[in-house]
Amino acid sequence: MIFVTGGAGFIGSNFVLDWLAQSDEPVLNFDKLTYAGNLKNLASLQGDARHIFVRGDICDQEQVLALFREHKPRAVVNFAAESHVDRSILGPGEFIRTNINGTFALLEAARAYWTEMTPEEQGAFRFLHVSTDEVYGTLGPADPPFSETTPFAPNSPYSASKAASDHLVRAYHHTYGMPVLTTNCSNNYGPYHFPEKLIPLVISNALAGKPLPIYGDGQQIRDWLFVSDHCAAIRRVLEGGKLGETYNVGGWNEKANLDVVHTLCDILDRQAPKATGSYRDQITFVKDRPGHDRRYAIDARKLERELGWKPAETFETGIAKTVAWYLANQEWVRDVQSGAYKEWVDQNYGQRENA
Ligand code: NAD
Ligand code: DAU
Repeated sequence: MIFVTGGAGFIGSNFVLDWLAQSDEPVLNFDKLTYAGNLKNLASLQGDARHIFVRGDICDQEQVLALFREHKPRAVVNFAAESHVDRSILGPGEFIRTNINGTFALLEAARAYWTEMTPEEQGAFRFLHVSTDEVYGTLGPADPPFSETTPFAPNSPYSASKAASDHLVRAYHHTYGMPVLTTNCSNNYGPYHFPEKLIPLVISNALAGKPLPIYGDGQQIRDWLFVSDHCAAIRRVLEGGKLGETYNVGGWNEKANLDVVHTLCDILDRQAPKATGSYRDQITFVKDRPGHDRRYAIDARKLERELGWKPAETFETGIAKTVAWYLANQEWVRDVQSGAYKEWVDQNYGQRENA
């Protein structure tokens, strides 16, 4: 079996669903169920003996080690993290705790478990750490995309905490010989994306008749990847990645935020037209994110060349699927927009007067 952390979050739940759609190898899904974790994402697995869910914190080394000893996973895939940049700006503490201390505790538990294995089991074991392109910092308009050798220059508490975790993972290979792999991925989008992030926030605000908040001038660029393509890349790296190496994952889809929002409005205008006017009328420019990275872009050629991975979706096909999913799953959106989420909206947007 494989041991997945953070498997009730956006990418983790997509990964678990995709994994079990393609393989009968069981998954132990270990998740703290923070505001971002949602077991409803996994409702289709109810009663499926291949999915074992355990609620817990990756900082709890003893619980993790006990589970490793009991279930004997052949691999760990670490998605568990605090993931939202704006939250890291308003309160970095949880990001340091989960992303740095949590990854450290998970590595220590994995090292103890790995040390107890036979040499054959040790050779087959993998610890795959899921990270972000944000560790590389920000690009100018003419800079080449981030490659695996781009120096780290994280700019937010979130990206700094992920960079620290990447360094720990790297060090456990270099120092202890642990069989680790790291993936650094660009912005994901798709089903089950929590509506605090740009794409799902814009879809849900548009349908609710609320403002569509654009930070600063909206010309910041992100490189978008449909979530199932990220999941396929992780499976490929787990299967064939070279130990101790990092792999960049990206969709070759650089888009300015304002263009993404225009695209979403145009699709919604066609598929869920308003009585009068366009969803574009709801666009509102608000105060920028402090330290806002201007441009991310990923050079994914190493993964393509060495492991034969390529994204299956273009931005056009992926965004159409995403909007269709949100239109068909408005109840899911209503459910996650709980009391705690409302407080976050007041905190984050209340202090951003319109620009
Ligand atoms: P998410 O915030 O949607 O989900 C995170 C999950 O981790 C949640 O289920 C949460 O309950 C769980 N979790 C948080 N703290 C935990 C802890 N201490 N112990 C156990 N579980 C805990 O995040 P996501 O967008 O799915 O991202 C998953 C991973 O991928 C993260 O490591 C993130 O840094 C990375 N990543 C995300 C993107 C993206 O665009 N979303 C891109 C590149 C990399
Ligand atoms: O690049 C990978 C990263 O992508 C992941 O590591 C993070 O976990 C993930 O959250 C994402 O980070 P971003 O900060 O790029 O994503 P977010 O959806 O928060 O913002 C995307 C862009 O849209 C960014 O430039 C900020 C802008 N934005 C965001 C929000 C929420 C707005 O203009 N308005 C908004 O209300």
